[in-house]
Amino acid sequence: MKKIWNVSLNKESVLKEVTLYGWVAKKRNLGGLIFIDLRDRSGIVQIVIRPEDTCYELAESLKNEYVIQVTGKVVERENKNKELVTGEIEILVVSLQILNTSLEIPFQITDETSALEDTRLKYRYLDIRRTPIKEKLILRHKIMQAIRSFLSEHDFIEVETPILCKSTPEGARDYLVPSRVNKGNFYALPQSPQLFKQLLMVGGMERYFKIAKCFRDEDLRADRQPEFTQVDMEMSFVCEEDVMDITEKLIADVFKKVRNIDIELPLLKMKYDDAIKYYGSDKPDLRFEMKIMDVTDVFKKTSLAFIRDGLESGQVVNAIVAKNGASYYSRKEIDKCTLFVKNLKASGLMYLKNEEELTGSIVKNLSAEEKENLCQSLALEKGDVAFLVLGEYKLVKNVLGALRLKVAKDLEMIPSHEYKLLWVTDFPTFEYSEEEGRFVACHHPFTSPKDEDVDKLLKDKEHCYSKAYDIVINGYEAGGGSIRIHNEGIQKKMFEALELTPEDIQNKFGFFVEALKYGTPPHGGLAIGLDRLTMLLSETDNIRDVIAFPKTASASDLMSDCPNTVSKKQLEELGIEIVKKA
Ligand code: AMO
Repeated sequence: MKKIWNVSLNKESVLKEVTLYGWVAKKRNLGGLIFIDLRDRSGIVQIVIRPEDTCYELAESLKNEYVIQVTGKVVERENKNKELVTGEIEILVVSLQILNTSLEIPFQITDETSALEDTRLKYRYLDIRRTPIKEKLILRHKIMQAIRSFLSEHDFIEVETPILCKSTPEGARDYLVPSRVNKGNFYALPQSPQLFKQLLMVGGMERYFKIAKCFRDEDLRADRQPEFTQVDMEMSFVCEEDVMDITEKLIADVFKKVRNIDIELPLLKMKYDDAIKYYGSDKPDLRFEMKIMDVTDVFKKTSLAFIRDGLESGQVVNAIVAKNGASYYSRKEIDKCTLFVKNLKASGLMYLKNEEELTGSIVKNLSAEEKENLCQSLALEKGDVAFLVLGEYKLVKNVLGALRLKVAKDLEMIPSHEYKLLWVTDFPTFEYSEEEGRFVACHHPFTSPKDEDVDKLLKDKEHCYSKAYDIVINGYEAGGGSIRIHNEGIQKKMFEALELTPEDIQNKFGFFVEALKYGTPPHGGLAIGLDRLTMLLSETDNIRDVIAFPKTASASDLMSDCPNTVSKKQLEELGIEIVKKA
């Protein structure tokens, strides 16, 4: 049977007899005529049933979301509906059949909905009938198709990798699966296919990709899911430039094929240190300017004791300027900003408004020279407001980076329907984890340090940089990767730098270190977050919108009520006993 999609019907179909299938989206009875909006995946078409039709009584009994089969004749409509793709025609019914009934639905299947997200997630199969969700799933399909065809055309081979793996945590917590056969032992679900794709390079595949399910038991945010999808890639005999080049071509191809948007290549490249310096973030949103400025020098001779003390202990003063923001930032709004920065551990927020005169929290204590220098350094014009933060370098950058985004939102400075892509490169190899009290890998432990920094792995972790890169789209980390360590000795050094004991290395990564001894080619790769890419291309900021059956912020599925308890028998088979804590 060839499916006739509703939206394929138009004036050229007039007089044809067609059989259509779908759901009753709406039923109206106007002067004896029954009109039905029949919905299928493609859209709506109007069905007309006249009082003399044999199926009239059956049509009267129809309710919303009943599933029907309609055979009828396509005719031109008298009152055309410009809102509808099929608005020039309608179907005069010949026969009608109810294929299934439906209970009254908990929310209407409309584009806009006031239904709570929890309700929509509980009845996700109904939510998927709504155009905005359905369209995002279709878009996701198109993105995957485009990716598969681009990568296949560029000699990449799609290889599946295991889901039941050895636990080798890469940063987040693992999801564990108990083994029945080997009681007391566990598999882990992969946080990414990182080691497998590197082993495929050892295996001589040279160019690999996989649309890979990844699992991470971490705190969830609007752009994070416990179970998500990566477009995972790896290549042999490449340098950083090669991986970035093929990836940006892939992304540009997807933008063109899926949304007909031209992305100018090559993309801008920004070093990690510069991203932090100017934007206070390793994923800067470049859809607006508002760079962070260093005004420490202006305060060198300040009479303000708290600033003087701060500078003496090595702190800095940085600022951002909200152009034309003086009128928006009333006392009340500035208080909100102060609270905002304090929540990010800043000691406070200073501001400077250029209106009729210069006003602000520190103006009274500034000399005429300081005021002039400050206005000049900040290029502060009439109507502008500057926000200043004093503190330790990293904290100041982080706070102003976040405030920069808040100000841009407050002042509606972020253009919609615009995409700004860039590469952030040259990441530090390590970052200090206060929680763990040691240096941890900034990307992952398989990332190669810069050639000139190999010696710093053990001696100068703070100044060791990596061959790592992230692709950033509109302030989101859309993907990231690196050139890998392919030398067994350097890999061991890296594990050592991360304070893994020789036993740890052997237990967790012995198989991998062993593989590096057998002719491992130089290699590198990257993984794109498919959910995030789909979010960006479908212009939503909620990752759940682009996943057919997503989890909530507390990592549960409201529809199937999962996770849930399992039977005693299942636990016994696994040799597991649940001990309730007192
Ligand atoms: P990374 O951990 O940076 O790299 O992940 C790559 C990309 O995956 C997406 N992502 C997520 N999306 C949704 N929910 C999550 N919880 C989540 N976590 C990550 C992001 C991110 O940029 N193996 C390396 C890649 C490599 O080195 O080749 C890796 O997994 O868009």
